[in-house]
Amino acid sequence: MTSNNRQTTNAAANRSTANGQAARTCQFKMVLLGESAVGKSSLVLRFVKGQFHEYQESTIGAAFLTQTVSVDDTTVKLELWDTAGQERYHSLAPMYYRGAQAAIVVYDITNADTFSRAKVWVKELQRQAAPNIVIALAGNKADLLAKRQIEVADAQAYAEENGLIFMETSAKTAMNVNDIFMAIAKKLPKNQDSSTTPGGRRGNDGQSLTVDQPSNPRSVGNDGGCCGGSK
Ligand code: GTP
Ligand code: MG
Repeated sequence: MTSNNRQTTNAAANRSTANGQAARTCQFKMVLLGESAVGKSSLVLRFVKGQFHEYQESTIGAAFLTQTVSVDDTTVKLELWDTAGQERYHSLAPMYYRGAQAAIVVYDITNADTFSRAKVWVKELQRQAAPNIVIALAGNKADLLAKRQIEVADAQAYAEENGLIFMETSAKTAMNVNDIFMAIAKKLPKNQDSSTTPGGRRGNDGQSLTVDQPSNPRSVGNDGGCCGGSK
């Protein structure tokens, strides 16, 4: 099940499993990082709304969206912070990756500079973000094969060396978009007692695409995330 609708999410949280046990609900903060124009917003828009815009506007500050997925008997609510890749917003990034349980670092397979930048983001996350953060590397714009500058094998090898989930994706064709988010959702810990509380205020620069109640990007603890528990 996927939904960015609060009512549906609550319905899922109240659902019981076949053996009578109530389904568990977990909430995680995920951040998207990467150079401007690599397709971060497009990946989120594809995943949350199933849409793609050829002329997607460059993000200002950051955008917040949510999406809910099912992993086995667990309802996983992902709070997605889509950061702005333009240089002038880089100093804001720690506010979004601090306390995040997951990150997708995006590069554009047709632009080698964006792969170098992605590696810098990975390094920064490894040094500054939560130690147990789940990091995925997305080689986006995989539909533009004729313009490829980064070979799959090179990115794959880098990802393996650094313990990253890796997929080439296309927000345009939807290739591997759900898959990369699901791969992360599956890897997130679902058995911790701590819970994140929705309802905090959004960052000053937050630009909401899907209005919901995000956790304050500044206030979520590093090891928070799971679980909203069962009802
Ligand atoms: P910032 O918000 O500036 O950081 O950029 P971004 O990383 O969010 O990129 P955005 O999603 O705005 O996409 C930039 C451009 O690339 C847009 O014109 C998109 O239509 C295009 N684009 C995004 N993903 C793909 C893709 O998978 N394939 C192709 N061909 N174009 C894409
Ligand atoms: Mg964007």
